[in-house]
Amino acid sequence: MVVLGIETTCDETAAAVVERPDLGRGKILSNIVLSQISEHAAFGGGVPEIAARAHVEALDLIIARAMAEAGRSFKSLDGIAAAAGPGLIGGLIVGLTTAKAIAMVAERPLVAVNHLEAHALTARLTDGILFPYCLFLASGGHTQIVAVRGVGDYVRLGTTVDDAIGEAFDKTAKLLGLTYPGGPQVEREALDGNPARFALPRPMLGKQNADFSLSGLKTALRLEAEKIAPVSAQDVRDLCASFQQAVVDVVADRLRSGLEMFRARFGVPTALVAAGGVAANEAIRKVLQRVAFEVGTALVVPPAELCTDNGAMIAWAGAERLALGLRDPLDTAPLARWPLADVRGPPAETDEPVLVPALGASKQA
Ligand code: KG4
Ligand code: ZN
Repeated sequence: MVVLGIETTCDETAAAVVERPDLGRGKILSNIVLSQISEHAAFGGGVPEIAARAHVEALDLIIARAMAEAGRSFKSLDGIAAAAGPGLIGGLIVGLTTAKAIAMVAERPLVAVNHLEAHALTARLTDGILFPYCLFLASGGHTQIVAVRGVGDYVRLGTTVDDAIGEAFDKTAKLLGLTYPGGPQVEREALDGNPARFALPRPMLGKQNADFSLSGLKTALRLEAEKIAPVSAQDVRDLCASFQQAVVDVVADRLRSGLEMFRARFGVPTALVAAGGVAANEAIRKVLQRVAFEVGTALVVPPAELCTDNGAMIAWAGAERLALGLRDPLDTAPLARWPLADVRGPPAETDEPVLVPALGASKQA
């Protein structure tokens, strides 16, 4: 199964060709990512209109490069997959419409992929792991702990009640005058900072659920920064280190709670899997390792370039769905909001008898 994947949900224009064997991990034949970071940097964050225009300008070329590198023609593909949501609607329209056009001309099936599902299934592409596993998805827009039980079978165990973790990193960076996107900058500054200098809160610590809250931490950081203003370079390093340490402590605690919920409901997970841009953070990777070790499960963290947004994860999710006979009609609409729990999988196999309504019974909606 060889599939082209197109990703345009946020500020990356990406396309990739991925091969999925019947068993085990996948093979990435090409994976082209064009980041729009430089176009957004002047505004200190992503601007939807700029993103949509940049996708229109770049996508054809990115797809052509992905196809050339993979040495494939559209006709030789088994399917065309595009992220159809959740995300910025302008970008989604560009990616999904392009995928439909290729699918129509090449007479190949279309798969409208949920971006979060693609993050969730990436560990099967890279490591070929089996269901069920526990996913920690942390990006600029999402923070979730999810039980991944199968393709299209996701149970959310926890989420953030306010900001996403990546968003908290980005806002912290902006506050401290660091460049966009903030995550990698904060991580770099934290390397030479003192994580114990500022006593920042650990929101939700010890709560029985697996939810997160980040906005109080961000506010506490702003107050500390204001107290010592003007901040020196070393202050910035110490603030970053203290912030990152608080996030790390919260992640450890929330994951312990989430894994406990997982075990109670679904048994032992095959692995703890990290996905999303925040999983590129070394301090967070370390604490994930510790938590996985404590609960006696493996940790799977895809390489950083497959944790951040890319086309390979979309292609892979498309291939996983195609392998189960799932495809989408050419009039499928993109969805700006599309929770993981709403993603449909293959029809459930059931041993229960099919109920045939009695003759003459009135039809019910
Ligand atoms: O998954 P992603 O590429 O895009 C989506 O949001 O879907 O994640 C981007 C987010 C940004 O908020 C960025 O600041 C954060 O991931 N991020 C990091 C690191 N690298 C990226 N956060 C902390 N440490 C990092 N090294
Ligand atoms: Zn993402």
